[in-house]
Amino acid sequence: MNEKNHKHYYVTSPIYYTNDNPHIGHFYTNLACDVLTRFKKLDNYDVIFSTGTDEHGQKIEQRAKALNKSPKELVDGLSQNFKNIFDDMQFNYTHFIRTTEDNHKKTVQFIWQELEKKGFIYKGSYAGYYSTSDEAFYTQSEIDENEAGELIARESGSKVEIIDEESYFFKLSHFQNKLLDYYANNNDFIAPKSRLNEVVSFVKSGLKDLSISRVNVKWGIPVPTNPKHVMYVWLDALTNYLTVLGFPGGSDFSKFWPADLHVIGKDILRFHAVYWPAFLMALDIPLPKKIFAHGWWTNKGEKISKSKGNAIDIISTVDTYGLDEVRFFLLKEIKFGSDGDFNEQNLIDRINNELANDYGNLCHRTLSIIHKNFNGKINNATLDNSDEATQILEMRNTLLSKLKSIIDKQDFSAYIEEAFIVIRGLNSYINNQAPWSLIKNNELDKASNILYTIVEVIRSIAIILQPILPISSNKILTFLGVNKQSRTFSNIDRPLTSYNIEKPQVIFKKHLEDNS
Ligand code: MSP
Repeated sequence: MNEKNHKHYYVTSPIYYTNDNPHIGHFYTNLACDVLTRFKKLDNYDVIFSTGTDEHGQKIEQRAKALNKSPKELVDGLSQNFKNIFDDMQFNYTHFIRTTEDNHKKTVQFIWQELEKKGFIYKGSYAGYYSTSDEAFYTQSEIDENEAGELIARESGSKVEIIDEESYFFKLSHFQNKLLDYYANNNDFIAPKSRLNEVVSFVKSGLKDLSISRVNVKWGIPVPTNPKHVMYVWLDALTNYLTVLGFPGGSDFSKFWPADLHVIGKDILRFHAVYWPAFLMALDIPLPKKIFAHGWWTNKGEKISKSKGNAIDIISTVDTYGLDEVRFFLLKEIKFGSDGDFNEQNLIDRINNELANDYGNLCHRTLSIIHKNFNGKINNATLDNSDEATQILEMRNTLLSKLKSIIDKQDFSAYIEEAFIVIRGLNSYINNQAPWSLIKNNELDKASNILYTIVEVIRSIAIILQPILPISSNKILTFLGVNKQSRTFSNIDRPLTSYNIEKPQVIFKKHLEDNS
């Protein structure tokens, strides 16, 4: 395939604030992007998966002050920390962007100048509410009082302060109807559907012009025409999706824009689904194809918060249970888009039942029988043509096309379920055919055909599950003797003619109950 008609896929995670260490939210969003990246690569796409750190703004300025550090010192350390953890978690990102980098500053300043040239920016003054924690402006109707009598943003519960300062504004109000038309004509632009409805009703309630600069914040990208102001951190941050592609200019921009997908958490939907499209419309740049807002994880039913100290330590969880196991749990426990509860017992149950019993045990016993009775070798076998085997082989042959559409809906739990339907089918097949009895009765050819049929389907399932379970899929494919070049999706229904199987080891360890 030549460069021109090669398939491209661009997926982005949000860029993360460097005011603290990574937590489950960062892990979860990047996990989704990682699965999509691995899938598309196996399906022969050129992929960009960008992630990184959002390093400017009042929140970081204040955090640095509290720690008695310069903002630069703070963000350098924390950004590196994020990157190290993403590497430890084996995320397949291709770009890690930092908003303090020079090329990003240039892109943001370019965009500001373009917006100014096109007449979408004017100077005024902003008097209203601001939440540093959300880095967001709120109107009177979005404010509540908490029990302590403090003003908070109703939706996030974050404290707000009143500010009154000179500011530049973006003519957001100008885009109200354009945005509504766009949502109406592009049904898949915001997912899940419930989020689209939220956005539509927010925009319908009326868009005010957006303050896009601060004079009382120093830690930011200066407004090119008036360096007394720094740019509002969200204008700076959202632009990262263009900087990654070398915008303006750069061949990646023409190949990869519009982005296929921005994966975000539901709390930052307004910025991505309202402000960002409006900026792009003003700049005459096509909009991203889709924005998917995922839900939030609670810890045993409770909202995770710093004050409660109930954050889920993802690193120690992965240390205890394994990376694939944690990935599997987060992706299977809830439909992507819904909120989920992180309950350790449920994690253990899924590892023991689905991974260890259903999948691991199937692989282990099949490979062990072959190893013990056939010296690990299967040659000259043919696929079983019994009804039961034909049905399973038919499922495996149609699986990929089903999964392609599931993955483009970001429905990871359905993806896993489809693979597990086949795994459960194989388990009942092996029990019904009992190859161990055939071996005892010396019906070796028949046993070998049945084992060959099972191994063929295990090979396909291991290839299919690589995006979800990269480490264990790799182990299984290695036990099966499948070479590295033969693990892409084009190999799924291309049977291997012979197998030389290694002595298998336990793939998923079982865990005792959680007694905490
Ligand atoms: N810097 C902005 C994003 C700019 S993108 C142009 C930002 N950063 S963040 O560090 O706060 O991002 C946190 C991400 O983690 C968000 O997508 C948020 O939804 C997600 N989560 C934070 N806590 C979470 C859970 N408890 N569960 C799942 N995700 C949550 O926002």
